[in-house]
Amino acid sequence: MILVTGGAGFIGANFVLDWLNGNGEGVINLDKLTYAGNLQTLASLESDPRHVFVQGDIGDRELVSRLLQEYQVRAVINFAAESHVDRSIHGPGEFIQTNVVGTFNLLEAVRAYWNALEGEAKAAFRFLHVSTDEVYGTLSATDAPFSESNRYEPNSPYSASKAASDHLVRAWHHTYGLPVLTTNCSNNYGPYHFPEKLIPLVILNALAGKPLPIYGDGQQIRDWLYVKDHCSAIRTVLAQGRLGETYNVGGWNEKANLDVVHTICSILDTLRPKADGTGYAEQITYVQDRPGHDRRYAIDARKLERELGWKPAETFESGIRKTVQWYLDNQDWVSNVTSGNYRQWLEQHYGNKA
Ligand code: NAD
Ligand code: DAU
Repeated sequence: MILVTGGAGFIGANFVLDWLNGNGEGVINLDKLTYAGNLQTLASLESDPRHVFVQGDIGDRELVSRLLQEYQVRAVINFAAESHVDRSIHGPGEFIQTNVVGTFNLLEAVRAYWNALEGEAKAAFRFLHVSTDEVYGTLSATDAPFSESNRYEPNSPYSASKAASDHLVRAWHHTYGLPVLTTNCSNNYGPYHFPEKLIPLVILNALAGKPLPIYGDGQQIRDWLYVKDHCSAIRTVLAQGRLGETYNVGGWNEKANLDVVHTICSILDTLRPKADGTGYAEQITYVQDRPGHDRRYAIDARKLERELGWKPAETFESGIRKTVQWYLDNQDWVSNVTSGNYRQWLEQHYGNKA
């Protein structure tokens, strides 16, 4: 089996769903179920014996050690993290606790388990750490996209905590020989994205007739990747990545925030025109900028393509259309998230299973 951490969050849950869709190998899903963890996303796996959900913390070494042993895990994929930049500005403590101290404890539990393995099981074992392009800092309009050899220059408490975790993973390979792989990915979007992040927030606020908040001048650039393409990149790196290497993952889709918001508005104008005949873009509102806001991210994903043959399947145009349609088609998931009911839903639907 594989152990996935943070598999009730946005990317982790998409990964688990895709993995079990295309593969018979079971998944132990270890997730603390913070506000960002939503088991409703995994409701289709409720009676699937290949999915074992365990509520717990990656920092709980005893629990992780027990799971590794009990299920004879052959690979760990670490998605668990505090992931929202704005939250890290308001309260960095949890980010240090989970992203840095949690990753350290996870690495130590994994190292002890891996040390005791022998032969083929030891040689085949992998620890894949899922990280972000934000560790590289910010680019000017004319800089080349981030490559794997760019310096780490994190600017927010979130990116600094992820950078620290990347360094721990690297050191556990260099010093102890732990068979690690690291991926640094750009901004993801797609189904099951928690509406604190730009794209789902704009879709849901637009439909609710609320303001669409643009930080600063809206000219900050992000490089967008459809979440299922990120999942396929992780599967590729897990299967074929060279030990100790890092791989940048991106969609070659640089867009200014304001353009992203206008694109969503015009898709909604077509798919769900407003009764009063006005356009959704009229809801755009400029708000105070994020402190320390990185101006531009862009990923050079050529290493992953050259060495492992990975390429994204979606363009931004196809992926964003699918995403808007998904939010229109999944009102139950949306209303449970926006009302906060998804947290009670856990008790009602999973009870002791969670
Ligand atoms: P998310 O916030 O949606 O999900 C995080 C999940 O981790 C949640 O289910 C949460 O309950 C769980 N979790 C938090 N603390 C935990 C702990 N101590 N122990 C166990 N579980 C814990 O995040 P996401 O957007 O799915 O991101 C997943 C990973 O991918 C993160 O490591 C993030 O840094 C990285 N990443 C995200 C993006 C993006 O655009 N969202 C891009 C690149 C990399
Ligand atoms: O680059 C990868 C990173 O992408 C991941 O590591 C993070 O986990 C993920 O949250 C994301 O970080 P961002 O800060 O780029 O994502 P967010 O959706 O919060 O914001 C995207 C851009 O939109 C950013 O420039 C800030 C801006 N923004 C965001 C919100 C929520 C707004 O203008 N208005 C908003 O209301």
